[in-house]
Amino acid sequence: MSDTETLLEAALEVLNTADPIQKARLGEAAAKRWLQGEISVPFRQDDDLPIPNRPARLSSVKLVAPSLMPKLGKGGSLQSRLAMLHSLVHTESWAIDLSWDIIARFGRKESMPKDFFTDFVKVAQDEGRHFVLLARRLEELGSYYGAFPAHDGLWDSAIQTSNDLSARLAVEHCVHEARGLDVLPTTISRFRNGGDEDTANLLETVIYPEEITHCAAGVKWFTYLCQRKINGHQDSNISSVCLSPENWAPKEHSKEEAVNGGKQNVVIEAFHDTVRRYFRGPLKPPFNVEARKAAGFGPDWDWNHVTMPLVPSLFTSDAHRTYSPSVIVDLIAARNFLEWTRLQEG
Ligand SMILES: [Fe+2]
Ligand SMILES: [Fe+2]
Repeated sequence: MSDTETLLEAALEVLNTADPIQKARLGEAAAKRWLQGEISVPFRQDDDLPIPNRPARLSSVKLVAPSLMPKLGKGGSLQSRLAMLHSLVHTESWAIDLSWDIIARFGRKESMPKDFFTDFVKVAQDEGRHFVLLARRLEELGSYYGAFPAHDGLWDSAIQTSNDLSARLAVEHCVHEARGLDVLPTTISRFRNGGDEDTANLLETVIYPEEITHCAAGVKWFTYLCQRKINGHQDSNISSVCLSPENWAPKEHSKEEAVNGGKQNVVIEAFHDTVRRYFRGPLKPPFNVEARKAAGFGPDWDWNHVTMPLVPSLFTSDAHRTYSPSVIVDLIAARNFLEWTRLQEG
């Protein structure tokens, strides 16, 4: 092994460490080394380092099936607020692992550009800080991480998407992160109404705005993968094509704009199809439209649409279950190209 540390090695050190406080500390240090250029190589081409299916975890935190989790309550009692805070602490501990796992599992495999690593290093740094702040707050209130049972749902999704970066981004870094944005305002109100202004402020001023940027990273890199597929692995200017608000509203298109609009539709349809295939459970409204928009989900992403049938002209009712997201992107691109051609001719 070379003396030069890679980001992959740093990520694996976090994943193979059980104590989440240690995970956060190691992750913060690794993030600083990457951002300051002390780690300059994301991975070595001949690396064959094993990525753990499940990161190391503390055995003192009792994991139960989601259906067996006790109700958190609505924050009217201290016990309820502690249960809510414990649930948030647990989610942040998994979020640390998810950020390093996407770097370790997919960075080299998908030949991702340097910005991909930097974006998820920053997400990992945030999640580590969130864990430390919320775990400290839990202790200030007389409890600790492990005092309540926790569920493993986030890592179940990680295992289901462990072979497909598009699916991982759509489910973990778009759906779950956006779900967090949907429920956080209510959670903040519950702490505030229960008299816990400190926790409410922490969630409102630190956690909430940073979670929006995490969701934005999911949207950005899901879009990138679709664009790269469409463009035949050429680098694409994703932000100008798909993430600009001016691209959300329907309008008269020039030929170039029509092509870009078609690409955006491909991304959105591929996203819907990927979520249908990999996400277990309903996408529950009400959605936090403002926060989702800030993260890059414009109105065209229409979350309610995810529950609608697949594109009828290309997919039978269950044929999509046999296609990978990349094949779906191809099929949707082909369909949109045909539609665009018809428009040009007609
Ligand atoms: Fe977080
Ligand atoms: Fe997050």
